[in-house]
Amino acid sequence: MIIYSRNRRLRTNASIRALVQQTVLTTNDLVMPIFVMEGENKQEPIPSMPGIFRRTLDLTVKECHELYKLGVKGVNLYMKVSENLKDNKGTESWNENGLMQNTIKAIKDAVPGMVVMPDVALDPYSIYGHDGIIANGKIDNDSTLEALVKMSVSLAAAGADILAPSDMMDGRVTAIRNGLEEGGFTDVGILSYAAKYASSFYGPFRSALDSAPKENTDIPKDKKTYQMDFHNSREAMDEVLKDVAEGADIIMIKPGMPYLDIVAKVRESIDLPIAVYNVSGEYAMLKAAVQNGWLDNDQAIIESLTCIKRAGADMIFTYAAKEAAILLNQ
Ligand code: PBG
Repeated sequence: MIIYSRNRRLRTNASIRALVQQTVLTTNDLVMPIFVMEGENKQEPIPSMPGIFRRTLDLTVKECHELYKLGVKGVNLYMKVSENLKDNKGTESWNENGLMQNTIKAIKDAVPGMVVMPDVALDPYSIYGHDGIIANGKIDNDSTLEALVKMSVSLAAAGADILAPSDMMDGRVTAIRNGLEEGGFTDVGILSYAAKYASSFYGPFRSALDSAPKENTDIPKDKKTYQMDFHNSREAMDEVLKDVAEGADIIMIKPGMPYLDIVAKVRESIDLPIAVYNVSGEYAMLKAAVQNGWLDNDQAIIESLTCIKRAGADMIFTYAAKEAAILLNQ
C-alpha cells in the first residue's frame, strides 16, 4: 500500500519537529498577578493557590526584581484592603497614599522597566464585595464610573503604565480615557477586560483578597448583572468591539482555558493585542492534580500556556508566570 501523505513524517525527530513548530511560548508572553498586603517583611500563603502568597510591599518589590530578572515584564496588582478602609464607594481606591498607589511607586522606583498594570475595580475596597457602587439594592453603573475615573487618575499619578479595568461597567473605557487625557496622562494605556465572564473559577482569588460578594439579603450575591453569562459567545464580540471603539489599547478575555473559543473568535476579528487571564481556579485545578501526583507540573504549565497563546493570546496573565519563566530559561 502506498500512502502518499503521511503526517508522521514531520514528527520523526525533535529537530524536524522544532523546524515546523508554530507557536512558541517566551517570557515576553507572561504577566504575573500579585497580591499585596499592609505591613512589613511578611508573606502569607494562599491555601487554594499553592506557591502563591500575599506579600507586604517590601517583599513585593523584591519579588518584582526576581521576576524581571527572569524575563517577566509585566505585573498586575491587587490589594488586600483592611476592613476598616472599606465603604460602598471604594473611597480608599483613590487615596493618593493608599497601598496600591504606594506599591506602584515603589515598584516603578526599584524596577523601572517592569510594566505595572494595576487592577481597576472597586471590589477589594467595597463593603459589599462588588465591583460597583450599590444604590437601591443594585450595582449602579454610572455612579461607579465616576469612582473608577478617580481611581484611574490616582493610579496613573502614582506611575502606573497600563490600567486594567476589570469591573465590566458599561462605558468605562471612554470615561477612564477622558479622565486620563484631561489629567495629562496621555501615555497611560488601558487594558480593558472586555469579555469577562461571571465565573466560578474566580473562587480562589476572592478568598485571597477576602473580596467575595457579601451575603447581605438585599444585595446580589453574584456578579451576573455585570459580568457575562458563560452560555454566550456572540455577546463577547459585541463587548470587545465596543471597547476597541472606546479607545482600549489591549483587550482582555477571561477566564482562559475553558474560554479559548472566545479567544480564537476575537483574534480573527480585531488587530489589537489580546491578553488572556489564566485565572485562579485554573491554577488551583492544575496544582491540585499535581499535588496528587496526577499531572506533571512543568509539562502541564508549559502546555496550557502555549495553547492559550496558540488560540490567539499576545500575553497571558498567569499565577504560573514565575515558574514558567524559570522553565523557559532552562
Ligand atoms: C475583580 C477581579 C477578579 C479577578 C480579577 N479581578 C474577581 C472577580 O471578578 O470576582 C479574578 C482573577 C482570578 O480569579 O484569578 N474585579
